[in-house]
Amino acid sequence: MDGNGRWAKQRHMPRTVGHAKGAAGVRDLVKACADQGVRYLTLFAFSTENWGRPSDEVSTLMGLFIQYLEKEMKAMQAEGVRLNVLGDISAFPAELQQRIEATQNATVHNHTITLNVAANYGGRWDIVNAVQRWSAANPGVSAENMTEPDLAQHLSTAGMLDVDLLIRTGGESRISNFLLWQVAYAELYFTDVLWPDFDTLQLQQAFTWFASRERRFGTVAP
Ligand code: IPE
Ligand code: MG
Repeated sequence: MDGNGRWAKQRHMPRTVGHAKGAAGVRDLVKACADQGVRYLTLFAFSTENWGRPSDEVSTLMGLFIQYLEKEMKAMQAEGVRLNVLGDISAFPAELQQRIEATQNATVHNHTITLNVAANYGGRWDIVNAVQRWSAANPGVSAENMTEPDLAQHLSTAGMLDVDLLIRTGGESRISNFLLWQVAYAELYFTDVLWPDFDTLQLQQAFTWFASRERRFGTVAP
């Protein structure tokens, strides 16, 4: 979800206004994904590198996250959205941690769509963490015996499908430490549209593009 700051700057408003506008659009996008049969939607909300932003911007982002969880609980229940946070949330303010836990617990049986919010997340962190967890779960076992599916079971996305479509808004063509393992065969969609302008019509365009891709997974066309 990139481009909130530039969206606000274009309007001579503080960056935080862009974040608020960006967050406000999420509900419709989640619903549109659910309606299209998407089973997992992962939003990159806050990277491990985002701590380097000015502290007032960081606290605005935390506040927006809390507000989102409070405001969206009802809609998530009504639409069968399961919330799942990917990342190390122990660094977040206690109020946010509690809100995350409560929302995850309250929505655990919803199964129309899983909304993963990657927060204090990094793809490299995910992989290192998975290796450590694998090793803790397999004491005395040599890593030579570890397979790709074994390790995948210890990633933050354990039990979920790999990424089919990665969308990055805001004009940059990079992955920026997002779900590195899981995007191995993802179709990559880069758009100049800034995140606050990325609406359900934009989403539909990305889906249409995705539908036109021939996915060979390293083999040849039939
Ligand atoms: C949102 O966009 C990304 C978040 C961390 C929420 P940016 O804040 O990166 O916006 P730009 O890139 O400065 O326009
Ligand atoms: Mg940015």
